[in-house]
Amino acid sequence: MFEIRPASPADRAALYRICLETADSGEDATHLYRDPLLVGHIYAGPYLEFEPDFAFVLEGGDGVCGYVIGAPDTAAFEARLEHGWWPALRRRYPDPADVPPDLRTPDERLAHLLHHPHRANAAVLAGYPSHLHIDLLPRAQGGGHGRQMLECLFAALREAGSPGVHLGVGGRNTRAQGFYRHVGFRELARSPEGSLTLGLRL
Ligand SMILES: CC(C)(COP(=O)(O)OP(=O)(O)OC[C@H]1O[C@@H](n2cnc3c(N)ncnc32)[C@H](O)[C@@H]1OP(=O)(O)O)[C@@H](O)C(=O)NCCC(=O)NCCS
Repeated sequence: MFEIRPASPADRAALYRICLETADSGEDATHLYRDPLLVGHIYAGPYLEFEPDFAFVLEGGDGVCGYVIGAPDTAAFEARLEHGWWPALRRRYPDPADVPPDLRTPDERLAHLLHHPHRANAAVLAGYPSHLHIDLLPRAQGGGHGRQMLECLFAALREAGSPGVHLGVGGRNTRAQGFYRHVGFRELARSPEGSLTLGLRL
């Protein structure tokens, strides 16, 4: 039995854990990072903190096993994090700017991201101002829950007046790419490394 419900502050640890356990192109990344919270600080924590109306979890079996999180206005969200989220983390994790990119450890690559966060492309935001992340643990995958969770977030975004949503997916995560295309996303941009920006009109 699985159930989708709004996320609450009590789900924070579960979100961080699921974020880490799906962070290696959809697979468990626990072995890649010395600090188990870094991935969640970037890809999960700020959504629960600042956009709780756009955060839903999948509960089933042994507790929370998936989430979908998003922000209706990506530009406003990025500005908010610049003031209210990154400063405290930047004090805790130094910028490894003096370590050459090729020599950075996985933790240092994330620490660098804290200091130089990804900014959404203005051309993408014009048509697709919202963005999202979705991650389900293996036991919850392949049962239609991903589609249902997206629909849940889409409904909330539509209600907030958003005309479109975008997301980023790594070049190696071909399974997620197939899923997104199947549910209606189309390609908006592709980086030299193969990462895709996909978008869907709401
Ligand atoms: C990617 C993910 C969110 C998909 O959710 P899911 O619950 O496994 O997918 P669903 O079972 O809801 O699939 C929905 C539909 O997409 C289809 N689909 C799923 N994967 C597909 C693929 N690779 N190619 C084509 N269609 C696919 C399903 O057949 C289903 O079709 P239907 O609704 O027409 O019957 C989930 O597998 C996941 O969290 N994976 C690990 C973390 C991850 O990679 N997150 C994305 C990071 S960018």
